[in-house]
Amino acid sequence: MLILGIETSCDETGIGLLKGRKILTNLIASQDDIHSAYGGVVPELASRAHVEMIDRLFSRAVESAGIKSCDINCIGVTNHPGLKGSLMVGVSFACGLAYALNIPLYRVNHLHSHLAVNFLNRELEFPALGLVISGGHTTFFHIKTPVEFTAIGRTLDDACGETFDKVGRMLGLAFPGGPDIEKAAEQGDENRIRFPVALMGKDSLDFSFSGLKTAVLYYIKKNGLKNIPDICAGFQKAVGDTLTEKTKRALVKHRVKSFLLGGGVAQNRYIRKRFQEMLEDKNVKIFIPNKKLCMDNGAMTAVMASYLAEYTIKPPPLSIEVIPT
Ligand code: KG4
Ligand code: ZN
Repeated sequence: MLILGIETSCDETGIGLLKGRKILTNLIASQDDIHSAYGGVVPELASRAHVEMIDRLFSRAVESAGIKSCDINCIGVTNHPGLKGSLMVGVSFACGLAYALNIPLYRVNHLHSHLAVNFLNRELEFPALGLVISGGHTTFFHIKTPVEFTAIGRTLDDACGETFDKVGRMLGLAFPGGPDIEKAAEQGDENRIRFPVALMGKDSLDFSFSGLKTAVLYYIKKNGLKNIPDICAGFQKAVGDTLTEKTKRALVKHRVKSFLLGGGVAQNRYIRKRFQEMLEDKNVKIFIPNKKLCMDNGAMTAVMASYLAEYTIKPPPLSIEVIPT
């Protein structure tokens, strides 16, 4: 079974090909260079760049996998959540291809696919708890089976990655902020500057990052930019404390066998380590994708589609609606 995954929800064009549960190819065209001048993703520019890239990237993927397009058995495409114009490019391309090849087309939830990439690990057992930490979302899911996701907590304001990006901008770092903050934090002392950790009500599994962002802004207004490594390390520690504390709470409320992390922020080595340490003494196996599979990519969409194909009885309709964020 050859499965094509198409991802265009934000600013990365992703084309992945899966044979069974093995990744044959996973090509990503990043638009960081286009958006960096603006300090954030410009939706109009993002959709235009997807249009210019998608068919070329698909041809390259087919070639690098050593297959022909007519060998593909089914397609999965991200149809929500994301930027409307960007989603429309991937969905239109996928609909046309599925029609031409006369093969089923599955609509894939972008957040589910960020976690589903962990399903490639054979040791994973259900039920599982998943946490997506990306540029647009910070969401806990209870996962009963590979196709049954229930959101049980989410950010009430900024997403985790968005907070990295906004703090990066305050510090004059490149866009997206995450990688530069991680690098600068390695030279800093995480205990020198204490930033607030918002845990909200005792039972809450929701997140709030806007207070942390404002605290960094006030610190910079008062003290200037003399000490960027310590600011980054203190900020990263506050994010790590928030994420791991909330996860401990979620694991008390929901008895699960596995914990899955996903999304662009999961590339951060400090955050990965904090989760590994936190779960060391718990009776839960932890799964974190390798770095390339944390960022937006087509292979994760293909993985989710492969499970939808396995679990869905009725073939999906060919028309797909786009559901933005
Ligand atoms: O999942 P993703 O590729 O796109 C969305 O679905 O949003 O995540 C992008 C986010 C950006 O906010 C970026 O700053 C963050 O992932 N990110 C990082 C790191 N690399 C990327 N955050 C922290 N540390 C990193 N090393
Ligand atoms: Zn994403």
